[in-house]
Amino acid sequence: MCGIVGYIGKRPAFPILLSGLKRLEYRGYDSFGFFVLDKDKDFLLKKTGKISDFEKHLEDDFLNKVNGTIGLGHTRWATTGVVTEANTHPHFDCQKNIFLVHNGIIENYKELKEQLINEGHQFTSETDTEVLAHLIEKYFQGNLEEAVRQALKKVRGTYGIAVISKKDPQKIVAAKLGSPLILGINNDEFLVASDSSAIVSYTRQVINLDDNEIAVLSPNNFFILKEKPIEKIDWDAEEAQKQGFSHFMLKEIFEEPEAIEKSIVGRTVLEQGLAKLGGLEQVLEQLKKVEKIIIVGCGTASYAAKVGEYMLEEYAKLPAKTEIASEFRYKNSILDDKTAVLAISQSGETADTLEAVKEAKRKDCLTLGLVNTVGSSISRETDAGVYCRVGPEIAVASSKAFISQLSILVLITVGLGRQREMSLVVGKKILEELQKLPDLSKKIFSQADYIKELAGKYSQYRNFYFLGRKYNSSIASEGALKLKEIAWKIHAEGLPAGELKHGQIALTDKDFPTVVICPSDSVYDKMKNAIEEIKARQGKILAVATEGNEEIKNLVDDVIYIPKTLEMLTPILSVIPLHLFAAYLGLELGLDIDKPRNLAKSVTVE
Ligand code: M6R
Repeated sequence: MCGIVGYIGKRPAFPILLSGLKRLEYRGYDSFGFFVLDKDKDFLLKKTGKISDFEKHLEDDFLNKVNGTIGLGHTRWATTGVVTEANTHPHFDCQKNIFLVHNGIIENYKELKEQLINEGHQFTSETDTEVLAHLIEKYFQGNLEEAVRQALKKVRGTYGIAVISKKDPQKIVAAKLGSPLILGINNDEFLVASDSSAIVSYTRQVINLDDNEIAVLSPNNFFILKEKPIEKIDWDAEEAQKQGFSHFMLKEIFEEPEAIEKSIVGRTVLEQGLAKLGGLEQVLEQLKKVEKIIIVGCGTASYAAKVGEYMLEEYAKLPAKTEIASEFRYKNSILDDKTAVLAISQSGETADTLEAVKEAKRKDCLTLGLVNTVGSSISRETDAGVYCRVGPEIAVASSKAFISQLSILVLITVGLGRQREMSLVVGKKILEELQKLPDLSKKIFSQADYIKELAGKYSQYRNFYFLGRKYNSSIASEGALKLKEIAWKIHAEGLPAGELKHGQIALTDKDFPTVVICPSDSVYDKMKNAIEEIKARQGKILAVATEGNEEIKNLVDDVIYIPKTLEMLTPILSVIPLHLFAAYLGLELGLDIDKPRNLAKSVTVE
């Protein structure tokens, strides 16, 4: 959602805050703001729009004019209150002594605000955050951390906050509950941020704050109200650069072959047909006793979950079910200590998924995580888990993380399958074919220019269906979601192909094309039925089919070929052209595919 960064040390804070916020812009880009404490002249700036646009118009000597060495920055994704400068963080108290940035939602802000107004406080914004500044003002008696502690006792909701007070000036106080917050430690300077991308250029030594912890950073040291180990970020600043690509979205799609490789390397024992997932070793005995697995996630992660469900039922013979995390929490599923709940999340911070994990724990389930961001809330909340290991995903829409999630679900299927009835031969075959995918997937990129041309050709349409069946039915959903997200002038829907005839086909005509995912697999003939139904209504069809299928050319308008692989592995290949198609179509429409309208990378509110 929103992004936070704070700096305290000996260097001018502003350039560090600016570069940190630019890296956090993917978390929210409605507006941004800074506060830098300076003994001569404090600096407060709030702007709507994107930081990159602001930076373009910065005068050359602007950076030199802001000298303070303690400061805060914030990039906002609006939740409470429209996008205005007044609603932009940092927020402050009546006397402009306390400055605060916040990520999360204060659920009881209305009652707190009413109470504070009755006590004489004057508000300048519509946000929930501002109550925090006034509450801290109310409790402030010379010691900032104590005032923060008192204030936080009054609030209900989630927060990651960083606060500065002009009356207790040599410190930043940071606190968290339910929203991510990390500290960065670099000799005699300290940073605080909502995620590591903001600070990785300055330090890789970090501490992940836990819920209800308060940290106090000063120019020479820091303390937390509890002893915590220092951890190491496992990727470097280079990985968070565009590296010659015009957009992170394109770069990350082009990294998909490498994402498969990174996800599986060192995690297979081919001769024994086994998956070796270090993060699950401590729960191997418990996994043997599991009788049912529920996979939870949101958006793209939920589509990966659905593919995993099909793999686990077919190959591990384990009853599996996908639940949208936001539904799972409230629907009161029948769970017990023989149920494992696997949470899939790129960010590891998605509030709906995190809450689903907590609910599963309350019901005695074994909780597992499949997460990309090391040290994130979901990775810490679950009993055990597997990391994607694909480095930071910066574009708001997910791509390489999805490919990684699918690849690791194959490993989990083999792991759980071999604990059950899966034979050595089958385990070995799946792993052998999986290991071929990095190379096979690279072949798809040789059609990148052709896919770009197709994107140009189809850019005249405003509605699309995406159809797939069995393993590829949720790839249809992923293809449609990606198109909506990054080419947001277009409406798209993903459907299990068999559903078309049950009503959806009413919309099909010459102006409503369909993308059909039809590899040569056990449901290919059924997919042909759908193709014929669409053609009978003059619908245009773009097919994703298996190399060597010449027949398909006569049935549809355009074909993108993917290499042949096992049926269960086809989603890992078929989704690649769909990601490329969406990205090129977004670019064709002149859109910023890294920062789609209305979206935030990590959705840390329910
Ligand atoms: O970080 P997560 O994987 O938990 O995020 C889940 C969804 O919010 C995310 O996949 C979303 O659907 C993306 N915008 C997809 O591109």
